[in-house]
Amino acid sequence: MKRSVLAAVVLLLGVSAVAAQQDLIEQSHALMKANGKNLGGVLSPMARGDKPYDQAAVDAALAQLDDTAKKLPTLYPASVKAVKQDSEYTPSAKVWDDRAGFDAQIASFAKAVSEAKGKIKDADSLKATLPTIGKACSGCHETFRVKNG
Ligand code: HEC
Repeated sequence: MKRSVLAAVVLLLGVSAVAAQQDLIEQSHALMKANGKNLGGVLSPMARGDKPYDQAAVDAALAQLDDTAKKLPTLYPASVKAVKQDSEYTPSAKVWDDRAGFDAQIASFAKAVSEAKGKIKDADSLKATLPTIGKACSGCHETFRVKNG
């Protein structure tokens, strides 16, 4: 009896640990998708002049990017490394094998976003500032993101 209760508790703990990791993985993917939407669907079209400049939309996009930068350090604990992700893009093992490098990429992304806040006032300043953010995205992806299949 005691043993089976213990076994059930161990099983439950195992299941909730997996659920917690799955939750972190879903969070990182949701944030990255929002990043992609904000860069590709909001900021870049405005910088190109394909969409009219909209300060409220710019501020909302920057707030989302800022939120991502703040959450990223918590979303890749060691326990996530072993979880197989079958999405199109997955984190590279380097996220964990070169944690200092990954943290440095998060820091330069956070810096690019915080420097952009308050600087972007019109289409011209958006155009001048956006490449710095874009480079921070691709700088991290180059090393720390892999395409599946
Ligand atoms: C510090 C590293 C880092 C930064 C900075 C970063 N990304 Fe990512 N990105 C990743 C990793 C790792 C993945 C793989 C999927 C995951 O872990 O969620 C990813 C995945 C993605 C994906 C695929 C979506 C998915 O569900 O996998 C998109 C789109 C994306 N990133 C866009 C961006 C954009 C746009 C920016 C900049 C505004 C950005 N990312 C900044 C690391 C980063």
